[in-house]
Amino acid sequence: MSLAPLFEPFQCKSLRLRNRIAMASMARWASPGGNPAALADFYTKRIKGGAALVMTEGAAINRPASYNDPQSARFFGPALEGWKTVVQSVHAAGGAIAPQLWHCGAVGKKGSDWVQDGDPESPSGLVSAGNPRGHAMTNADLDAVLKAYSEAGAATRTIGFDAVEVHAGHGYLLDQFLWAETNQRSDRWGGATLVARSRFPLEAVRCVRAAAGPDLPLFLRISHWKSADLAARYVETPAELEAWLMPFAKAGVDIFSVSDFHWDTPLFRNSPLSFAGWVRKVTGLPVMTCGAIGMSGDLMATFGGETGQPQPVDAVARHMADGAFDLIAVGRALLANPDWADRIRNGAAADLAPCTPQLLAPGV
Ligand SMILES: Cc1cc2nc3c(=O)[nH]c(=O)nc-3n(C[C@H](O)[C@H](O)[C@H](O)COP(=O)(O)O)c2cc1C
Repeated sequence: MSLAPLFEPFQCKSLRLRNRIAMASMARWASPGGNPAALADFYTKRIKGGAALVMTEGAAINRPASYNDPQSARFFGPALEGWKTVVQSVHAAGGAIAPQLWHCGAVGKKGSDWVQDGDPESPSGLVSAGNPRGHAMTNADLDAVLKAYSEAGAATRTIGFDAVEVHAGHGYLLDQFLWAETNQRSDRWGGATLVARSRFPLEAVRCVRAAAGPDLPLFLRISHWKSADLAARYVETPAELEAWLMPFAKAGVDIFSVSDFHWDTPLFRNSPLSFAGWVRKVTGLPVMTCGAIGMSGDLMATFGGETGQPQPVDAVARHMADGAFDLIAVGRALLANPDWADRIRNGAAADLAPCTPQLLAPGV
């Protein structure tokens, strides 16, 4: 099977990509004081190695407790100068780059005794049911967070990024609104249904969309899994999936960025179609898939000490050709092999390096 589908160009609004390969967002915890300048070389190497697009690590919006590590990249204040350096470097190498706008919500960092710059804020002050951390957001907190999303959307445009991603997965702030266990609010931001609990994330998307302007592609990252519950599930039918996501499409999402442990796991019984495939089918929008592309195991296994081994990607290319998704986000394979895209294109996959747990540790 040819890998040619992975190397077709892609366009969405003002974003033009030379191929379908993106580097998945990966925190490097290497931004002292939040300044990401040291990430410039790390990202640029992946572009020089053939990837078309960099999704940055989660970059914290302007709230005191929006990041849970002192070396997380920030997306406000002096850190924005660092992002200019990063963007210029990626562009000079012929690539495109999108910041991932992030707020960690109630999630702290395991094993860290660093104290956040503010009290953790989240819908109901919970990391999971019965597991409190920080406080439930007041109306003033909610307004301030939306303002921070707007400011980040505006900065995305003025700095010259090629697209923007809103992180609404993996159990962080926006996902904590979606999840019934962590959103027990009785005001308009809570509710018994996923659609009702989507109101605040929708508002965040509207803010970013309005500030970033109509022509900048907006990715929305979604997942079922979250560190507090790796097996969490939001939808059981295609109709539920459609009811959840269509309001996001209407609010300005251009591309869904679907995160799963394995890109090819069927979402529903009685159909082989993956989460990404179903999102594309019910929304009709382009989709970027992610999860164990070109690498065995999954990110939790590698964080847990198992080394991932390089894997062929013929099936990924075939599913793309069949219309299951439009873009791939590659994490561990690109961490271990900066020139992964060129290598698979040139048939040199036999020499690819495995992804050891050490590679996931902080650093670039
Ligand atoms: C070290 C590391 C840091 C990560 N940081 C982020 C992040 O900041 N934001 C995010 O959405 N996902 C993050 N992820 C998840 C990846 O984007 C991706 O979904 C996951 O690694 C699965 O893809 P893979 O199997 O190709 O590695 C991280 C993964 C790793 C390994």
